[in-house]
Amino acid sequence: MTMDDEQPPIDVLAEANHASLLRFQGRFPGALVDDQPTHLRVWTGLASGFFNAVARTRWSKGVAPAAVRAIAADLSGRRAPWRWYVGSAGDSEDLGRLLKSVGLMPVPAQTPMLLPLTARVLPRLVGKVEPVAGLHVSQVRDSPGMAAWVAARADSNGWGERTAAAWMTMHLGLGFDEAEPLQHLVARLGGRPVGTATVFLDTDGTAGIYHIEVLPEARGRGIASWLTAAAIGLAADRDAQRVVLTATPLALGLYRRLGFTAQGSFTYFIDPALGK
Ligand SMILES: CC(C)(COP(=O)(O)OP(=O)(O)OC[C@H]1O[C@@H](n2cnc3c(N)ncnc32)[C@H](O)[C@@H]1OP(=O)(O)O)[C@@H](O)C(=O)NCCC(=O)NCCS
Repeated sequence: MTMDDEQPPIDVLAEANHASLLRFQGRFPGALVDDQPTHLRVWTGLASGFFNAVARTRWSKGVAPAAVRAIAADLSGRRAPWRWYVGSAGDSEDLGRLLKSVGLMPVPAQTPMLLPLTARVLPRLVGKVEPVAGLHVSQVRDSPGMAAWVAARADSNGWGERTAAAWMTMHLGLGFDEAEPLQHLVARLGGRPVGTATVFLDTDGTAGIYHIEVLPEARGRGIASWLTAAAIGLAADRDAQRVVLTATPLALGLYRRLGFTAQGSFTYFIDPALGK
């Protein structure tokens, strides 16, 4: 048996990293962090569902309906976007049905993926990514760097000012110390921010990669591949043992090419009246 065979399932690793990131975001001043064996709930009140969420749900069937109804009513009553994350690592089928029954809607599912950082992985990666002419990738170290990261994501996602301000506020609050577990990369082409990546290094040696996004007009040139390789490099520099992410259908091929393997599913439900 190799080390790889002893890894927990990919969906479990991805769910755990995401839950740790949520908890970390719960450091935001005034945030509510409700960390129970049955579920994790974090509420910051910022205008993005990424910062207000329920995750890692593990209710027994009898208890779930009343608990889901109560939590959903409470969070929707707070009038900011919020998400309920559901993955194959938990009781997704029943939970999904319950969430729909209280009027929440699922977004398209993503696929948990894993790349163990064995000694062989990084040299292999070198042959799989090409530098992109004129592209400059840097680590976010200050507020102008964060503004560039937010600007690229706002352009990619069509965010309004409120959502962009929420992302800026959260990350200015968390700071840019190199020793922190949350680190961001921004790719610029001719000075213009065109792509992003984020790495969250958990204490179990798992690094989660988040927010791989490239502006529509800059896609298909290898920018996301390069950014993903840079994020993997950053994780390796910090002695991560494995990298996880959840891939959109658009990005599955790209990650497979870099050596990631897939298992399970991960999605979230939103209150359509409040957005995501
Ligand atoms: C998914 C996404 C990040 C890909 O960004 P990208 O910069 O176009 O990605 P790349 O150019 O590195 O790779 C995309 C494809 O272009 C191909 N490609 C790579 N380099 C290329 C080049 N120099 N010339 C032409 N095509 C190239 C790749 O082979 C890849 O094909 P594949 O998906 O079949 O493997 C981008 O479409 C995006 O932002 N989507 C919306 C957000 C999203 O879904 N993010 C993923 C989160 S997990």
